[in-house]
Amino acid sequence: MAVTTLTVERQAKLDLQQKKRPVRRDSGYQSPDDSPLLTVQLNDGNEIPQIALGVYKAPNGQETEDAVIAALDTGYRHIDSAARYANEEACGRALKKWLQKTGTPRNEVFVTTKLWDEDHGYEATLNALCDSLRKFQLDYFDLYLLHSPSDDKEKRHQSWRVLETAQKLGKVRSIGVSNFGASHLDELLAETSVVPAVNQIEVHPFCQRQDLVNKCRSHGIVIEAYSPLARGNKLEDARVLRIAERNGRTPAQILINWNAARGNVVLPKSLTTHRIKSNMESMDFKLSAEDMAEIDALGAENYVTGSLHRSED
Ligand SMILES: NC(=O)c1ccc[n+]([C@@H]2O[C@H](COP(=O)([O-])OP(=O)(O)OC[C@H]3O[C@@H](n4cnc5c(N)ncnc54)[C@H](OP(=O)(O)O)[C@@H]3O)[C@@H](O)[C@H]2O)c1
Repeated sequence: MAVTTLTVERQAKLDLQQKKRPVRRDSGYQSPDDSPLLTVQLNDGNEIPQIALGVYKAPNGQETEDAVIAALDTGYRHIDSAARYANEEACGRALKKWLQKTGTPRNEVFVTTKLWDEDHGYEATLNALCDSLRKFQLDYFDLYLLHSPSDDKEKRHQSWRVLETAQKLGKVRSIGVSNFGASHLDELLAETSVVPAVNQIEVHPFCQRQDLVNKCRSHGIVIEAYSPLARGNKLEDARVLRIAERNGRTPAQILINWNAARGNVVLPKSLTTHRIKSNMESMDFKLSAEDMAEIDALGAENYVTGSLHRSED
């Protein structure tokens, strides 16, 4: 009897874990070893799927809806948007349709959006968060970020306190920052009580920013790597091509896999169905130590995005 209870309890626990961890098998995507979609643990105890569909420069219309649905059909369980991208409505419509179509519970898809700089300050942040929730047709976000530190330190910290309150109220599950350099982090950590769960910054093999990455890690802040494909500008690089050929993979898959192997959350953007799928397939192989070392030697701080803030800022 005791054994049965234990087994039932254990099974219930496993079911719960399984629920929390989206499984590729459920979504039609099957990795060779049928392994679950990888997640990364955040410093607040929540888990974040390691690959997301980025939607920067995606229009607020059908093309983006199709891309989000294609991504979810492929097995992505994480969408990275922002108020600034002006496509929260399209993303929200697609998510709603897909959840209804598949009968998937809302909590199996991780949704991130960001507060734009002009909305820093107490009241403006509250309004902007409500506005984003309305546009997405959601009750809560899984992750809400300050999109950039902007210039006004006082307003920035007011915004952060609003995020802390929103987290307590359950309107956002996790809170984080983006484009924060070392001194922005120091200032925030000195004045506020909740350590950001993530810092979303430009990171790819040509822009590795190791000092800032190490600093974030030392505080338990997960790196979310944006522009992981260097916006498509480095896919012809001879060294990347060589490694891709050696592994029977595409250059894009090599760049994404390198980032994921370092424990970063990776946010490739694509509106093209076959690329959305092939980017997801970046997660199902392992680069050798030699390949990793060769890629590690590629770059340090060669920004392709005109990143708003540099590592040391
Ligand atoms: N927090 C921030 O300040 C910030 C800044 C930048 C980006 N981000 C986030 O990070 C995401 C990704 O960054 P990003 O959009 O700058 O650049 P990215 O993901 O490095 O590159 C996107 C470009 O690569 C192309 N592409 C995608 N997959 C490909 C593949 N397999 N082969 C060849 N080309 C491919 C895309 O074209 P198609 O769409 O035509 O396929 C698009 O032109 C953004 O969407 C956003 O969510 C955040």
